Amino acid sequence: MPARGHSKNLVGVLLSGRGSNLVAILDRIAAGELEASVVLVIGNEPSADGVQAARSRGVPTLVVDHRQSPSREAHDREMAVALEAAGARLICLAGYMRLLSPWFVERFAGRVMNIHPSLLPSFPGREAQRQAIEAGVRISGCTVHFVDERADSGPIILQEAVPVLDGDTPETLGARILEKEHVLYSRAIALYFSGRLRVEGHRVLGTS
Ligand code: GRF
Repeated sequence: MPARGHSKNLVGVLLSGRGSNLVAILDRIAAGELEASVVLVIGNEPSADGVQAARSRGVPTLVVDHRQSPSREAHDREMAVALEAAGARLICLAGYMRLLSPWFVERFAGRVMNIHPSLLPSFPGREAQRQAIEAGVRISGCTVHFVDERADSGPIILQEAVPVLDGDTPETLGARILEKEHVLYSRAIALYFSGRLRVEGHRVLGTS
């Protein structure tokens, strides 16, 4: 367990790529600003940089390549066994580019979060930053939400606004949104472990 880790607020992270949100979470924990421990990082892509980043910080990692599984649920069951063995209480999707099976969502009901680079429910799915620019919105941002069976659709926990500027490309807007993501995800994790959040219908109460 990392030196600054927390013995009860145990987090598992699923990712597919770069892993900058994971690194931001690990940095906050190391700085003593987030009372949590990342007990396992699972990548579904063997080449995911995020898995390497976790490894180099001494965080346990696992690659569960979805292409080796007979079905989505079989893949998710393999991840679930590892997450439960590691004691993860909260599961954070951090650039995890696959839909979770209904089995997984039910197994970890209310315990899975995702971060998305738009103000949901606007612009779910891929290329959210491009969607925002093409739609002409003046304000986009990022959202941390609980995960349900559909992509980017569960109850919203926190959002942060980011202006869309005249000269923005998906890359420049995405970079400004990412800065906010790196702060927002840790805030949502801290709120979760504070025990104050409660879900009523599609609303999450206890954040304000
Ligand atoms: C982030 O923009 C996140 O909102 C989205 O995927 C991206 C992951 O980036 N779900 P990273 O791998 O954390 O750098």
